Amino acid sequence: MSAEDILSDSAGSTSGDRFVEISYDDVIPNNVALGSDKQLQRALEGWRPKYLDWWSGMGPVGYQQSEVYLRTAVGVDPAGWAKFGYVKMPTYRWGILLAPKVEGRTIPFGRHKGEPAWQEVPGEHRALLRRLIVVQGDTEPASVEQQRFLGATAPSLYDMRNLFQVNVEEGRHLWAMVYLLVKYFGKDGREEAQALLERQSGQMDNPRILGAFNERTPDWLSFFMFTFFTDRDGKMQLAALAESGFDPLSRTCRFMLTEEAHHMFVGETGVQRTIEATCAAMVKAGVKEPNDVEAARQLGIVDLPLLQRKLNFHASVTRDLFGADISSNAAEAFSSGIKGRFNEGNLKGDDHLLQDATYPVTRVVDGRLVVEEAPALRALNARLLDDFIVDCQGGIDRWNKSVEKAGVAFKFVQPHKGFNRRIGEFAGKRISPAGEVLTEEQWAAKSGDWLPNDDDMRFIRSLMKPCHEPGKYATWIAPPRVGVNNQPGDFEYVKIA
Ligand SMILES: [Fe+2]
Ligand SMILES: [Fe+2]
Repeated sequence: MSAEDILSDSAGSTSGDRFVEISYDDVIPNNVALGSDKQLQRALEGWRPKYLDWWSGMGPVGYQQSEVYLRTAVGVDPAGWAKFGYVKMPTYRWGILLAPKVEGRTIPFGRHKGEPAWQEVPGEHRALLRRLIVVQGDTEPASVEQQRFLGATAPSLYDMRNLFQVNVEEGRHLWAMVYLLVKYFGKDGREEAQALLERQSGQMDNPRILGAFNERTPDWLSFFMFTFFTDRDGKMQLAALAESGFDPLSRTCRFMLTEEAHHMFVGETGVQRTIEATCAAMVKAGVKEPNDVEAARQLGIVDLPLLQRKLNFHASVTRDLFGADISSNAAEAFSSGIKGRFNEGNLKGDDHLLQDATYPVTRVVDGRLVVEEAPALRALNARLLDDFIVDCQGGIDRWNKSVEKAGVAFKFVQPHKGFNRRIGEFAGKRISPAGEVLTEEQWAAKSGDWLPNDDDMRFIRSLMKPCHEPGKYATWIAPPRVGVNNQPGDFEYVKIA
């Protein structure tokens, strides 16, 4: 199917007014009746060529003229919002898609709780709201920039396609935030939209806003760990913003979450398939001891202790994205009804105001870890981080099932919350993965066992050889159980031009 076929199909659901139809006739596909807001349409059409410039300059290196088997959103109906077909990435239909409006929605938390959700920006919260949208928006193009060199070393066409799917959808997430900025924040919104294309991941003078988004994603293990951990931070932030009293933000984030689920799937199954290849090769070669790193590496697979170190690194760097555990900004965002907690609407047993509530926060006092009750309002970042850690564990348990099934004696564990942190209560403290407070000397002696070392990175680099033949996979990763959109095993996911 060509891009044109996708577009000529009448898009979206026509079953009554529950789902807003997506117009693919417009230059910018949308379900926000863009055509009836000429000023907004002009502003976004003016931004679009700059976006395309950014995509060609800072997006995936190579493969831009290749036909990639991508899904394009054609509706916001959860039952069938996507269509699959071959698309050249620069012609991807990036659009503006909001989840359906919930009639009569009220603000679910904070001091405006119970009031009708805002359809316009409340003046008193304008600056804070804009900041949150800019920070979220900044992460989207950043991840595309971080991943731009990976196509050349893809371990299969299936994986290459998944990478590009994630990339175009992160591009669409940028559109989602830019829509909010341009529509609701006037001149400063347009300036912020421009600045989102100017900051660059890892650039000294004008870096991306958050630290983890300036780290490199130099290899495929990093990509899978990034999509497992860091895209999951995206999920947690989007889920908290989906509770927002500012309804357009809530609706935007709700639709973004459907795309985010796929990114985490790519990460979880990517690591899982790596584990499967490792365990299968170890069993076949009779390597019983998971810590016999040399024996494993000679088989052309990633040893499990190295995967654990990668896990430790990506988990800890991503946890820093949640910000200071105790934060008056987080309290203000909650009280003013702008950013809720994870799953706010379904949380039972509290008043959603948190005036008198407390929350347990771990901190280091006199060289020991102590749990203290902090005012819940100021501990919202700590809480979202705890929810994130719980959310990660499901995937890690599934990884461990794979190891167990193969009969290998090894278990992946999440490092302690305080391990390798630069932001929050544990910043500047030395804490082991098991949660012991260490001296600087103890840390220096052991950290190479806990975080990827130079030797690890060299070995990973040596594995990163392209495998671009349909149906073939690099030695270090197992094929997926099911193809994208149920395609057969030898399907040509990318027709390399
Ligand atoms: Fe995203
Ligand atoms: Fe994502």
